[in-house]
Amino acid sequence: MPSDTYAHLIDCRLCVNIDHVATVREARGTDEPDPVRAAVLAELGGADGITVHLREDRRHIQDRDVELLFATVRTFVNLELAAAEGVLELAEAWRPAQATLVPEKREEVTTEGGLDLSGDTDHVAEAIRRLQAVGTRVSLFIDPDPDAIDTAVELGAEAVELHTGEYANASDRDDADRELERLEAAAARGLDAGLHIHAGHGLTYENVQPVAAIDACEELNIGHSIVSRSVLVGLERAVAEMGRLVRGARV
Ligand code: PXP
Repeated sequence: MPSDTYAHLIDCRLCVNIDHVATVREARGTDEPDPVRAAVLAELGGADGITVHLREDRRHIQDRDVELLFATVRTFVNLELAAAEGVLELAEAWRPAQATLVPEKREEVTTEGGLDLSGDTDHVAEAIRRLQAVGTRVSLFIDPDPDAIDTAVELGAEAVELHTGEYANASDRDDADRELERLEAAAARGLDAGLHIHAGHGLTYENVQPVAAIDACEELNIGHSIVSRSVLVGLERAVAEMGRLVRGARV
């Protein structure tokens, strides 16, 4: 069960995922651009949190980045990781305020879907237990399905992040409306069961507002679209523009 009272109808947090700042750095194997500097600018632009995915293959974010982020971020760090031994051990030592467990496949370009909670969930249960034991709030990245919500509750996660990829990739308006209804229903079910509701993946300046308008949704994690815009207008402005859309969606 959640460790603190769930306050719904609160503003939705904007957590900025800065993985792709590190992607540009790793493309050249140099030390720029530095995702730690990017986190400072994102916070100055109004980010409510900084999200990074420490992948097992370390294709973008490195251990050094996470360590420096913990020392410098003034909001909070949401650490995304797979329920896998190496990264789990690091997270236990780092004790982040929040961790989001995600599925990970080496060959994927980005996280392709939510955690599969339909089969054996022992490794997920173990990861939740270990992270909670060091005081970390655990969120599970799941598809917006009722069964996945129910399993997240049974596993004792404090939060779920609803995968918005299907909504973002909808082929037409009707498809998008159907996916939005799935997100709304999953958010309501999770809220009723006492979960904190987060959402993310594939959200852009064009499609974010209907998701941000879901009352139960407490946090959005957005990366690629913000980092893409930042190349053109600067990160602080890109975050501020997304922040205005997220916060304006409920007025
Ligand atoms: N949430 C999760 C769990 C993710 O894995 C990602 C991608 O790293 C995001 C949100 C952000 O997705 P995007 O970069 O498409 O905004």
